[in-house]
Amino acid sequence: MTKSLGASALFTLLTALVATSVQAIPRITRTGRYLYDESGTRFYIKGIAYQEQGAVVASDDNPFGEPSTFIDPLALPDACSRDLPFLQELGVNTIRVYSVNSSLNHDACMNAFSAAGIYTIIDLALPLNGSIDRLSPSWSTNILDQYIHTIDTFSKYDNVLAYNIGNEVVVQESTQVAPYVKAAARDTKAYLKSQDSSALVGYAAINGASNWREPLANYLSCDLTGSNSDATAIDLYGLNDYSWCGDSNFQSSYAGITNAFANYNVVAYLSEFGCISSPPRLWTESGALFGSDMNTVWSGGIAFSYFPAQSAAGQFGMVTISSDSRTVTTSDDFDRLRTQYGLVTFINSPSQSSVAAATYPTCPASTSTFLASSTLPPTPNEAACNCLESSLSCRFTPATSNYTTVVGELLNVGCSLLGQSGGSCTEIGGNGQTGVYGRLSGCDPTIKLSYVMSQFYEANDRNPQSCSFAGNGTVNPLAPTGSASSAASSCIANPSAVFTPSAVPTTANSGATGGATTTGGSGTNTGAAASLIDTNALLGTGLMGIISVLGAIWTLA
Ligand SMILES: *[C@@H]1O[C@H](CO)[C@@H](O)[C@H](O)[C@H]1NC(C)=O
Ligand SMILES: *[C@@H]1O[C@H](CO)[C@@H](O)[C@H](O)[C@H]1NC(C)=O
Ligand SMILES: *[C@@H]1O[C@H](CO)[C@@H](O)[C@H](O)[C@H]1NC(C)=O
Ligand SMILES: *[C@@H]1O[C@H](CO)[C@@H](O)[C@H](O)[C@H]1NC(C)=O
Repeated sequence: MTKSLGASALFTLLTALVATSVQAIPRITRTGRYLYDESGTRFYIKGIAYQEQGAVVASDDNPFGEPSTFIDPLALPDACSRDLPFLQELGVNTIRVYSVNSSLNHDACMNAFSAAGIYTIIDLALPLNGSIDRLSPSWSTNILDQYIHTIDTFSKYDNVLAYNIGNEVVVQESTQVAPYVKAAARDTKAYLKSQDSSALVGYAAINGASNWREPLANYLSCDLTGSNSDATAIDLYGLNDYSWCGDSNFQSSYAGITNAFANYNVVAYLSEFGCISSPPRLWTESGALFGSDMNTVWSGGIAFSYFPAQSAAGQFGMVTISSDSRTVTTSDDFDRLRTQYGLVTFINSPSQSSVAAATYPTCPASTSTFLASSTLPPTPNEAACNCLESSLSCRFTPATSNYTTVVGELLNVGCSLLGQSGGSCTEIGGNGQTGVYGRLSGCDPTIKLSYVMSQFYEANDRNPQSCSFAGNGTVNPLAPTGSASSAASSCIANPSAVFTPSAVPTTANSGATGGATTTGGSGTNTGAAASLIDTNALLGTGLMGIISVLGAIWTLA
């Protein structure tokens, strides 16, 4: 079925929407493990994922098929008005958006969706260096700044239901990344509170074996302060669940997870659903999800996905967009979801007044299948890291604005060279299993690199050639005579400090020599650079051999 709306029809529709919705979209808040609107009516997420897929470069380094680019769907007014009637036809009240660009304008889309009664769940991460790297994690100023810029950009809209601090960061092989995710929740939550925002803090988990999925869920919503505090707890746990395939039923598809989350303390929903392995998708899970078998445990879900999306499991999506971007063609999949969503009646119970406030249990201990420490990384400290950066003797001066890969490579080389001269990179790294974090672990990757370069330069009697790094390093003539290590001691006086992050300046801070900017990154969830600052990996003899050769060249440069 192809439908296309003329500009004037669209204008009339939008005007009508605005005119009839004089009443603002109600604020949604959490009481205990449920969501309620301002009138005390229970709120369920009846949603759809709404983002065109970015470019996915298939490679061994990208086992999850993660995209390396993104298209911000909330910054495309024409596309939003093109799609809004279809979202309304589906009857959704929420869209989930995976990556947005905080420097773009989102007024038209956000206001149109708000007027249509549609909330947004916005993921704060971006592809590549804009997310917590599950292979080489850090919770650092560059990612925190990105999160804060996005929150600041969206704070003026009344229809942001939640911000997700991560999507599928923790997997079975990387449960020790969980402390970084929880630290992100803690600091994002504190920032939202400081801005008087009622937006919820969420995380979207990949489904997996219960021996780590459940500890992770409990870990993300637990209390670390010993005083039943929500300060380190997420508000909204999302499970990306594709277990209802074909003509299934509650008992065989959802009873297990529903039982597993029966006593969960915060809101849980399916942050993605819609299995494609037994087509056609009937979307009959919607009846179970919003029905009485599940409504006391789950608060709805997000059907995946409006736009076409290719994955290892197959092709998702329920519309196609014409090549001139003007026309939407819906599929039978769309029609079936519309039918099933149309049958949903929200069960308005339990009543808000009968629901107890959430409690925040103590955190689960680590186990052999869930390795996360209960000691979280500190709050990334921009001022401390910038202080250090200006005091370093040898600094990274990128020759290109596209320096992410270079930083990764140089960290690899630098840490290897440092290792050979008796130093180590433990101060820039961290370990979520032992809960030990280097004092620079929260700094921008470019500052970490400058620190490594400075230490190597100082270990080589400040021979200018040892600051070259093939033309990537520059001696800082304004640096104090002391060592990089003593600069770290004075600038990062309290390395484990946890505090409320403040708004970040919008202009990037440049080093005195026009060098390293303070926003940069090395880790990606996908790139070869990912494992480069993992000091354990650097000790691997195979890798060491390769690096030694490189190192020899570079020392001679
Ligand atoms: C955001 O948009 C601006 C302007 O188009 C662009 O220069 C920038 O690269 C984008 N940022 C990201 C992270 O895509
Ligand atoms: C990612 O790297 C690019 C340069 O390659 C930089 O402009 C951007 O700020 C970085 N983002 C983060 C969050 O580090
Ligand atoms: C940035 O560098 C990477 C790796 O060298 C490359 O794959 C990518 O295309 C570059 N991006 C831009 C925008 O130049
Ligand atoms: C900087 O390091 C990169 C990464 O190894 C290398 O390719 C490049 O030639 C070096 N020099 C400059 C000026 O970029």
